[in-house]
Amino acid sequence: MPKPKISQPYTFLKASKKIQNRTVLAAMTNKQSHDDGVISDDEINWLSERAKGGFGIITTAATNVSIEGKAWDGEFGVYDDSHIPNLIKLTSAIHQTKSLIIAQLFHGGTKSPQKITGFIPVSASELNCAESFTGKSKKASEKDIEKIINDFTASAIRCHQAGFDGIELHGAHGYLISQFLGKKTNLRKDGWGGSLEKRSKLLIEIFKSIRENVPESFIVGIRISPEIESLGIELNDSINLIGILRKLPIDFIHLSCWDVFSKSNSIANSQRTLTEIITDSYESLPTIISTGNVWSSLDAHKLLKQGADLVGVGRVAIGHPNWAHNVSDLKYSPKKPPFSIHELKKAKLNKTFISYMKNWNNFVK
Ligand SMILES: Cc1cc2nc3c(=O)[nH]c(=O)nc-3n(C[C@H](O)[C@H](O)[C@H](O)COP(=O)(O)O)c2cc1C
Repeated sequence: MPKPKISQPYTFLKASKKIQNRTVLAAMTNKQSHDDGVISDDEINWLSERAKGGFGIITTAATNVSIEGKAWDGEFGVYDDSHIPNLIKLTSAIHQTKSLIIAQLFHGGTKSPQKITGFIPVSASELNCAESFTGKSKKASEKDIEKIINDFTASAIRCHQAGFDGIELHGAHGYLISQFLGKKTNLRKDGWGGSLEKRSKLLIEIFKSIRENVPESFIVGIRISPEIESLGIELNDSINLIGILRKLPIDFIHLSCWDVFSKSNSIANSQRTLTEIITDSYESLPTIISTGNVWSSLDAHKLLKQGADLVGVGRVAIGHPNWAHNVSDLKYSPKKPPFSIHELKKAKLNKTFISYMKNWNNFVK
Protein backbone atom coordinates (compact mmCIF):
# COMPACT_ATOMS: atom_id res chain seq x y z
CA MET A 1 0.00 0.00 0.00
CA PRO A 2 1.45 3.42 -0.90
CA LYS A 3 1.65 5.88 1.96
CA PRO A 4 -1.16 8.46 2.11
CA LYS A 5 -0.18 11.79 0.54
CA ILE A 6 0.25 13.51 3.92
CA SER A 7 3.04 11.03 4.74
CA GLN A 8 4.80 11.23 1.39
CA PRO A 9 8.03 13.26 1.05
CA TYR A 10 8.02 16.74 -0.44
CA THR A 11 10.84 18.83 -1.93
CA PHE A 12 11.38 22.57 -1.83
CA LEU A 13 12.71 22.78 -5.36
CA LYS A 14 14.58 26.08 -5.31
CA ALA A 15 16.25 25.37 -1.97
CA SER A 16 16.70 21.72 -2.96
CA LYS A 17 15.54 20.61 0.48
CA LYS A 18 13.54 17.47 0.99
CA ILE A 19 11.11 16.94 3.83
CA GLN A 20 10.07 13.52 5.05
CA ASN A 21 6.34 14.21 4.83
CA ARG A 22 3.82 17.05 4.38
CA THR A 23 3.30 17.96 8.03
CA VAL A 24 4.29 21.30 9.56
CA LEU A 25 4.29 22.22 13.21
CA ALA A 26 2.98 25.81 13.01
CA ALA A 27 4.56 28.53 15.14
CA MET A 28 3.30 28.51 18.71
CA THR A 29 4.31 31.02 21.33
CA ASN A 30 4.95 29.20 24.59
CA LYS A 31 6.68 31.75 26.86
CA GLN A 32 9.15 29.18 28.18
CA SER A 33 12.39 31.10 27.51
CA HIS A 34 14.67 33.51 29.37
CA ASP A 35 14.32 37.27 29.93
CA ASP A 36 17.50 38.01 27.96
CA GLY A 37 16.02 36.28 24.89
CA VAL A 38 18.11 33.12 25.21
CA ILE A 39 16.04 30.08 24.25
CA SER A 40 15.59 27.76 27.23
CA ASP A 41 16.07 24.02 27.47
CA ASP A 42 12.32 23.71 28.14
CA GLU A 43 11.50 25.40 24.81
CA ILE A 44 14.13 23.25 23.04
CA ASN A 45 12.62 20.10 24.61
CA TRP A 46 9.08 21.03 23.60
CA LEU A 47 10.14 21.45 19.97
CA SER A 48 12.47 18.40 19.94
CA GLU A 49 9.68 16.18 21.19
CA ARG A 50 7.56 17.16 18.14
CA ALA A 51 10.55 16.53 15.84
CA LYS A 52 10.89 13.06 17.35
CA GLY A 53 7.15 12.76 16.65
CA GLY A 54 7.89 12.94 12.93
CA PHE A 55 7.01 16.46 11.74
CA GLY A 56 8.39 17.38 8.33
CA ILE A 57 8.95 20.96 9.48
CA ILE A 58 9.21 22.33 12.99
CA THR A 59 8.50 26.06 13.18
CA THR A 60 9.61 27.91 16.30
CA ALA A 61 7.43 30.34 18.21
CA ALA A 62 7.45 33.91 16.92
CA THR A 63 10.90 35.23 17.82
CA ASN A 64 11.71 38.93 18.01
CA VAL A 65 14.23 40.53 15.67
CA SER A 66 14.92 43.48 17.98
CA ILE A 67 14.38 44.46 21.59
CA GLU A 68 11.72 46.94 20.38
CA GLY A 69 9.82 44.13 18.66
CA LYS A 70 9.40 41.87 21.71
CA ALA A 71 5.77 41.21 22.58
CA TRP A 72 5.75 38.82 25.56
CA ASP A 73 7.74 37.77 28.57
CA GLY A 74 9.36 34.39 28.03
CA GLU A 75 9.78 34.98 24.29
CA PHE A 76 13.10 33.84 22.85
CA GLY A 77 14.96 36.27 20.60
CA VAL A 78 17.30 36.17 17.62
CA TYR A 79 18.38 39.81 17.85
CA ASP A 80 21.82 39.31 19.39
CA ASP A 81 24.82 37.07 18.80
CA SER A 82 24.63 36.00 22.45
CA HIS A 83 21.52 34.01 21.45
CA ILE A 84 23.44 31.85 18.99
CA PRO A 85 24.91 29.13 21.29
CA ASN A 86 21.50 27.98 22.55
CA LEU A 87 19.98 28.33 19.08
CA ILE A 88 22.67 25.88 17.93
CA LYS A 89 21.57 23.58 20.75
CA LEU A 90 18.04 23.71 19.31
CA THR A 91 19.00 23.15 15.67
CA SER A 92 21.38 20.31 16.62
CA ALA A 93 18.66 18.59 18.64
CA ILE A 94 16.17 18.88 15.77
CA HIS A 95 18.73 17.67 13.23
CA GLN A 96 19.18 14.48 15.19
CA THR A 97 15.76 13.70 13.71
CA LYS A 98 14.66 14.02 10.08
CA SER A 99 12.75 17.30 10.64
CA LEU A 100 13.69 20.70 9.25
CA ILE A 101 13.77 23.61 11.67
CA ILE A 102 12.45 27.04 10.69
CA ALA A 103 12.44 30.19 12.86
CA GLN A 104 9.44 32.51 12.72
CA LEU A 105 10.82 36.07 12.68
CA PHE A 106 8.63 38.88 13.90
CA HIS A 107 8.24 42.35 15.34
CA GLY A 108 5.14 43.07 17.40
CA GLY A 109 4.60 46.72 16.32
CA THR A 110 1.67 48.06 18.38
CA LYS A 111 1.64 44.74 20.26
CA SER A 112 5.14 45.24 21.71
CA PRO A 113 4.42 46.66 25.19
CA GLN A 114 6.48 49.65 26.24
CA LYS A 115 6.62 48.18 29.74
CA ILE A 116 8.56 45.19 28.33
CA THR A 117 10.69 46.88 25.66
CA GLY A 118 11.22 50.35 27.14
CA PHE A 119 10.29 51.85 23.74
CA ILE A 120 7.13 53.51 22.41
CA PRO A 121 5.59 50.87 20.12
CA VAL A 122 6.32 51.68 16.50
CA SER A 123 3.86 51.00 13.69
CA ALA A 124 2.85 52.08 10.19
CA SER A 125 0.91 55.00 11.65
CA GLU A 126 0.11 56.77 14.88
CA LEU A 127 -2.63 54.45 16.14
CA ASN A 128 -4.50 53.93 19.38
CA CYS A 129 -2.22 51.60 21.25
CA ALA A 130 -2.93 50.10 24.65
CA GLU A 131 0.71 49.00 24.96
CA SER A 132 2.11 52.55 24.79
CA PHE A 133 2.41 54.78 27.88
CA THR A 134 0.93 57.64 25.80
CA GLY A 135 -1.91 55.50 24.42
CA LYS A 136 -0.57 55.99 20.87
CA SER A 137 1.98 54.20 18.71
CA LYS A 138 4.78 56.04 16.94
CA LYS A 139 4.51 56.32 13.15
CA ALA A 140 7.71 54.71 11.83
CA SER A 141 10.17 57.22 10.34
CA GLU A 142 12.31 56.36 7.30
CA LYS A 143 15.14 55.66 9.75
CA ASP A 144 12.92 53.34 11.82
CA ILE A 145 11.92 51.45 8.66
CA GLU A 146 15.54 51.08 7.62
CA LYS A 147 16.36 49.69 11.08
CA ILE A 148 13.43 47.25 10.93
CA ILE A 149 14.61 45.88 7.56
CA ASN A 150 18.18 45.60 8.87
CA ASP A 151 17.01 43.88 12.08
CA PHE A 152 15.02 41.25 10.15
CA THR A 153 17.99 40.69 7.83
CA ALA A 154 20.58 40.39 10.63
CA SER A 155 18.28 37.98 12.47
CA ALA A 156 17.86 35.78 9.39
CA ILE A 157 21.65 35.71 8.90
CA ARG A 158 22.04 34.78 12.59
CA CYS A 159 19.51 31.94 12.13
CA HIS A 160 21.49 30.69 9.16
CA GLN A 161 24.69 30.79 11.23
CA ALA A 162 22.92 28.89 14.01
CA GLY A 163 22.01 26.04 11.68
CA PHE A 164 18.34 26.73 10.91
CA ASP A 165 17.03 25.40 7.60
CA GLY A 166 15.13 28.60 6.98
CA ILE A 167 12.90 31.32 8.34
CA GLU A 168 9.24 32.30 8.12
CA LEU A 169 8.42 36.01 8.10
CA HIS A 170 5.43 36.55 10.36
CA GLY A 171 3.17 38.73 8.25
CA ALA A 172 -0.02 37.42 9.94
CA HIS A 173 -2.18 38.01 13.01
CA GLY A 174 -1.91 41.77 13.39
CA TYR A 175 1.79 42.27 14.20
CA LEU A 176 4.04 44.89 12.59
CA ILE A 177 4.16 43.53 9.04
CA SER A 178 0.39 43.10 8.92
CA GLN A 179 -0.07 46.57 10.45
CA PHE A 180 1.68 47.85 7.31
CA LEU A 181 -0.47 45.60 5.09
CA GLY A 182 -3.82 46.66 6.58
CA LYS A 183 -5.80 49.57 5.15
CA LYS A 184 -7.10 50.53 8.59
CA THR A 185 -3.69 50.46 10.30
CA ASN A 186 -1.54 51.89 7.52
CA LEU A 187 -2.73 55.44 6.95
CA ARG A 188 0.53 56.65 5.36
CA LYS A 189 0.61 58.65 2.17
CA ASP A 190 4.33 58.15 1.41
CA GLY A 191 6.09 55.26 -0.34
CA TRP A 192 5.13 52.85 2.48
CA GLY A 193 1.34 53.31 2.46
CA GLY A 194 -1.65 53.85 0.18
CA SER A 195 -1.94 51.31 -2.64
CA LEU A 196 -1.46 47.57 -1.97
CA GLU A 197 1.99 47.80 -3.62
CA LYS A 198 3.01 50.47 -1.13
CA ARG A 199 1.44 48.78 1.91
CA SER A 200 3.28 45.57 1.05
CA LYS A 201 6.59 47.36 0.42
CA LEU A 202 7.90 46.75 3.96
CA LEU A 203 7.25 43.01 3.68
CA ILE A 204 8.81 42.83 0.24
CA GLU A 205 11.87 44.92 1.13
CA ILE A 206 12.46 42.71 4.20
CA PHE A 207 12.11 39.60 2.04
CA LYS A 208 14.46 40.90 -0.68
CA SER A 209 17.07 42.03 1.80
CA ILE A 210 17.05 38.62 3.52
CA ARG A 211 17.12 36.75 0.22
CA GLU A 212 20.21 38.70 -0.89
CA ASN A 213 22.05 37.79 2.30
CA VAL A 214 21.39 34.07 2.70
CA PRO A 215 22.18 31.18 0.34
CA GLU A 216 19.56 29.74 -1.97
CA SER A 217 19.46 26.56 0.09
CA PHE A 218 18.11 28.57 3.04
CA ILE A 219 14.30 28.48 2.98
CA VAL A 220 12.59 31.87 3.17
CA GLY A 221 8.81 31.85 3.45
CA ILE A 222 6.06 34.26 4.46
CA ARG A 223 3.03 33.70 6.68
CA ILE A 224 -0.03 35.86 6.07
CA SER A 225 -3.60 36.10 7.31
CA PRO A 226 -5.77 36.34 4.18
CA GLU A 227 -8.51 38.26 6.03
CA ILE A 228 -8.39 40.44 9.16
CA GLU A 229 -11.35 42.78 9.25
CA SER A 230 -10.13 44.92 12.15
CA LEU A 231 -6.89 45.77 10.30
CA GLY A 232 -8.49 46.25 6.90
CA ILE A 233 -6.81 43.18 5.39
CA GLU A 234 -9.17 41.97 2.68
CA LEU A 235 -9.17 38.75 0.71
CA ASN A 236 -8.92 40.52 -2.67
CA ASP A 237 -5.83 42.39 -1.55
CA SER A 238 -4.35 39.18 -0.16
CA ILE A 239 -4.91 37.41 -3.47
CA ASN A 240 -3.18 40.30 -5.26
CA LEU A 241 -0.38 40.27 -2.69
CA ILE A 242 0.17 36.58 -3.40
CA GLY A 243 0.27 37.52 -7.09
CA ILE A 244 3.20 39.84 -6.27
CA LEU A 245 4.92 37.38 -3.93
CA ARG A 246 4.75 34.45 -6.34
CA LYS A 247 7.06 36.32 -8.72
CA LEU A 248 9.74 36.57 -6.04
CA PRO A 249 12.19 33.79 -5.17
CA ILE A 250 10.07 32.79 -2.21
CA ASP A 251 10.00 29.21 -0.91
CA PHE A 252 6.55 29.11 0.65
CA ILE A 253 3.46 31.08 1.53
CA HIS A 254 1.78 30.01 4.74
CA LEU A 255 -1.94 30.81 5.02
CA SER A 256 -3.12 31.28 8.57
CA CYS A 257 -6.82 30.44 8.31
CA TRP A 258 -7.69 29.54 11.96
CA ASP A 259 -10.31 27.22 10.45
CA VAL A 260 -9.38 25.81 7.05
CA PHE A 261 -12.91 24.43 6.61
CA SER A 262 -14.84 27.66 7.07
CA LYS A 263 -15.92 29.61 4.00
CA SER A 264 -14.56 33.03 3.13
CA ASN A 265 -16.11 35.96 5.04
CA SER A 266 -15.66 38.44 2.20
CA ILE A 267 -17.50 36.67 -0.58
CA ALA A 268 -21.26 36.48 -0.04
CA ASN A 269 -22.59 32.91 -0.04
CA SER A 270 -19.15 31.59 -0.91
CA GLN A 271 -19.02 27.83 -0.81
CA ARG A 272 -15.25 27.85 -1.08
CA THR A 273 -12.61 28.01 1.60
CA LEU A 274 -9.73 30.50 1.70
CA THR A 275 -7.25 27.81 0.66
CA GLU A 276 -9.39 26.82 -2.33
CA ILE A 277 -9.95 30.41 -3.44
CA ILE A 278 -6.26 31.27 -3.19
CA THR A 279 -4.88 28.12 -4.80
CA ASP A 280 -7.44 28.42 -7.63
CA SER A 281 -6.40 32.03 -8.31
CA TYR A 282 -3.07 31.26 -9.99
CA GLU A 283 -1.76 28.51 -12.24
CA SER A 284 1.49 28.28 -10.35
CA LEU A 285 2.31 29.24 -6.80
CA PRO A 286 5.18 28.72 -4.40
CA THR A 287 4.62 25.91 -1.89
CA ILE A 288 1.40 26.58 0.01
CA ILE A 289 1.12 25.69 3.69
CA SER A 290 -2.31 26.11 5.21
CA THR A 291 -3.20 25.89 8.90
CA GLY A 292 -6.26 25.98 11.11
CA ASN A 293 -8.42 23.45 12.90
CA VAL A 294 -6.95 20.31 11.41
CA TRP A 295 -7.28 17.49 13.93
CA SER A 296 -7.66 14.07 12.26
CA SER A 297 -6.07 12.37 9.23
CA LEU A 298 -9.32 12.93 7.41
CA ASP A 299 -9.01 16.70 8.07
CA ALA A 300 -5.43 16.67 6.75
CA HIS A 301 -6.52 14.74 3.68
CA LYS A 302 -9.35 17.24 2.99
CA LEU A 303 -6.95 20.19 3.31
CA LEU A 304 -4.56 18.66 0.77
CA LYS A 305 -7.58 18.25 -1.53
CA GLN A 306 -8.29 21.98 -1.16
CA GLY A 307 -4.94 22.66 -2.82
CA ALA A 308 -2.49 23.01 0.08
CA ASP A 309 0.90 21.38 -0.46
CA LEU A 310 1.69 21.09 3.24
CA VAL A 311 -0.59 20.83 6.27
CA GLY A 312 0.15 22.98 9.30
CA VAL A 313 -1.13 22.14 12.76
CA GLY A 314 -0.97 23.92 16.07
CA ARG A 315 -3.10 22.80 19.02
CA VAL A 316 -3.38 19.12 18.13
CA ALA A 317 0.42 18.84 18.36
CA ILE A 318 0.41 20.32 21.85
CA GLY A 319 -1.56 17.38 23.15
CA HIS A 320 -0.19 14.82 20.69
CA PRO A 321 3.56 15.19 20.01
CA ASN A 322 3.49 12.13 17.70
CA TRP A 323 0.68 13.47 15.51
CA ALA A 324 2.86 13.56 12.40
CA HIS A 325 3.77 9.87 12.73
CA ASN A 326 0.24 8.78 13.53
CA VAL A 327 -1.45 10.74 10.75
CA SER A 328 -0.30 8.14 8.21
CA ASP A 329 -3.10 5.96 9.66
CA LEU A 330 -6.18 7.06 7.74
CA LYS A 331 -8.39 6.41 10.77
CA TYR A 332 -6.34 8.53 13.18
CA SER A 333 -8.57 10.92 15.13
CA PRO A 334 -6.81 11.93 18.35
CA LYS A 335 -8.50 13.06 21.52
CA LYS A 336 -9.61 16.70 21.64
CA PRO A 337 -9.08 19.14 24.54
CA PRO A 338 -9.46 19.66 27.43
CA PHE A 339 -6.18 18.00 28.43
CA SER A 340 -5.22 17.31 32.02
CA ILE A 341 -2.13 18.97 33.49
CA HIS A 342 -0.60 15.51 33.76
CA GLU A 343 -1.14 14.90 30.03
CA LEU A 344 0.42 18.26 29.14
CA LYS A 345 3.46 17.69 31.37
CA LYS A 346 3.92 14.32 29.69
CA ALA A 347 3.79 16.11 26.34
CA LYS A 348 6.79 18.24 27.50
CA LEU A 349 5.07 21.53 28.36
CA ASN A 350 6.53 23.33 31.38
CA LYS A 351 4.47 25.07 34.09
CA THR A 352 4.54 28.46 32.34
CA PHE A 353 3.33 27.02 29.03
CA ILE A 354 0.57 25.05 30.76
CA SER A 355 -0.61 28.14 32.58
CA TYR A 356 -0.52 30.14 29.27
CA MET A 357 -2.68 27.44 27.67
CA LYS A 358 -5.32 28.10 30.35
CA ASN A 359 -6.07 31.30 28.39
CA TRP A 360 -7.14 29.16 25.42
CA ASN A 361 -10.78 28.28 25.78
CA ASN A 362 -11.31 24.84 27.31
CA PHE A 363 -7.79 23.61 26.51
CA VAL A 364 -6.62 22.72 30.03
CA LYS A 365 -8.81 20.61 32.33
C1 LIG B 1 -0.57 28.59 22.10
C2 LIG B 1 -0.54 29.13 20.71
C3 LIG B 1 0.45 30.04 20.36
C4 LIG B 1 0.50 30.54 19.05
N1 LIG B 1 1.55 31.35 18.69
C5 LIG B 1 1.71 31.71 17.39
C6 LIG B 1 2.89 32.37 16.97
O1 LIG B 1 3.83 32.61 17.72
N2 LIG B 1 2.97 32.71 15.65
C7 LIG B 1 1.97 32.44 14.77
O2 LIG B 1 2.08 32.77 13.59
N3 LIG B 1 0.85 31.78 15.16
C8 LIG B 1 0.71 31.38 16.42
N4 LIG B 1 -0.38 30.65 16.80
C9 LIG B 1 -1.34 30.22 15.78
C10 LIG B 1 -1.00 28.80 15.28
O3 LIG B 1 0.21 28.81 14.53
C11 LIG B 1 -2.13 28.22 14.39
O4 LIG B 1 -2.25 28.99 13.23
C12 LIG B 1 -3.48 28.22 15.11
O5 LIG B 1 -3.36 27.64 16.39
C13 LIG B 1 -4.54 27.45 14.32
O6 LIG B 1 -4.13 26.14 14.09
P1 LIG B 1 -4.71 24.92 14.98
O7 LIG B 1 -6.20 24.96 14.84
O8 LIG B 1 -4.10 23.69 14.36
O9 LIG B 1 -4.28 25.15 16.39
C14 LIG B 1 -0.47 30.16 18.10
C15 LIG B 1 -1.48 29.27 18.47
C16 LIG B 1 -1.51 28.74 19.75
C17 LIG B 1 -2.57 27.74 20.11
